[in-house]
Amino acid sequence: MTFCFEKERALFPILTRKAQLSSCSQSALSEPVATAIRDYTTSWLEQGMDWVGWVTEVDGAKAEFARLINADPSDIAVMSCVSDITSSIGSAFEFTGDKNEVVVADIDFPSLGHVWLAHERKGAKVKFVPDNGKNCIDLEAYREAINERTRLVSISHVSYYNGFKQDIQAIAALAHSHDALIYVDAYQSVGSMQIDVVRDEIDLLACGAQKFLLGCPGIAFLYVRRDLAKKFQPSNTGWFGRVNPFAFDIRHLDYADGARRFDTGTAPMINACAARAGMQLLNSLNMADVESHLRFLSDIALQEAKSKGLRIASPLDVNLKGATTAIYIHDAQTVERKMANDGFIVSARNDVIRVAPHFYNTEQEVAAAMNALARYA
Ligand SMILES: Cc1ncc(COP(=O)(O)O)c(C=O)c1O
Repeated sequence: MTFCFEKERALFPILTRKAQLSSCSQSALSEPVATAIRDYTTSWLEQGMDWVGWVTEVDGAKAEFARLINADPSDIAVMSCVSDITSSIGSAFEFTGDKNEVVVADIDFPSLGHVWLAHERKGAKVKFVPDNGKNCIDLEAYREAINERTRLVSISHVSYYNGFKQDIQAIAALAHSHDALIYVDAYQSVGSMQIDVVRDEIDLLACGAQKFLLGCPGIAFLYVRRDLAKKFQPSNTGWFGRVNPFAFDIRHLDYADGARRFDTGTAPMINACAARAGMQLLNSLNMADVESHLRFLSDIALQEAKSKGLRIASPLDVNLKGATTAIYIHDAQTVERKMANDGFIVSARNDVIRVAPHFYNTEQEVAAAMNALARYA
């Protein structure tokens, strides 16, 4: 397959020295993102303060995120991390009566399970959907778990651990057929594949900036379906969630229209600059091309791992996985460090090493990383 991102690859200086294959954790720093961070510090150094300019960056970041998921900028709120977003969503729900179950999958990122377990004090009942023994979840398991007592289905789109990709459209349909809502943690998917919250009828969706969005830690985005937003009054709130944040009326609690009611306090401005630049770069690409390149690299990763006899923790069918390929390995943390010394930036989690390319990576880099991994298996 011809590599169609040569021009954009040149924007990532580290790639001339190292194969950065860690987008499931932190993607490579591009020139436009580095420039956006520098521009923020320059404005701070030289103008002292540029409140309007910085708020404009936050709004710009919301707009870029909206574009990536086929939403409107007014459908997006901003916080500092996906864990905070999940807590805020929880603070907007009443868990009273029998319709109080939150369906969470065993393979979801632990933070989400923790947030929902913390809501058991408020009457929520967490129901964990078991995996099928291969760190994947069958749709059938959701059919068994979701019923008339389900209030919310909170699941990840793509697993942080092994890249397993769930059929969010089918799970959303299941949730809705039982009058429940669906909240998708899309931290491992947005930026690496086409996402359409309208087509898939997603109610709530969250994603942070540092993985496939090409940004840095400390900022995350929440999508809230427009016709649903007015039903939510999150108790985790702040002045930016008000109709007019600049009214400075301490005695009056109102909620802004749309997703903005989930905004809390001053946004992480410098992170917004980085996130905006990263997503601008992504939005300048054709996401269908990005998705098909990453599918091709997935195929290479699986083939190379198989041919080297590596034990694969990811689904073996590229249609069931995102960009990440996970390999079982003894003492993964140590192997991550050894791989870094060899020039391969990969990411350890528990008992696996995750090889997570982005659009800027090549077939040769993925194959060489699997080859290097085989030395430590
Ligand atoms: C799928 C997924 N969800 C949530 C998180 C945690 O996000 P945050 O640290 O922004 O709360 C991660 C982090 O790795 C993740 O991969």
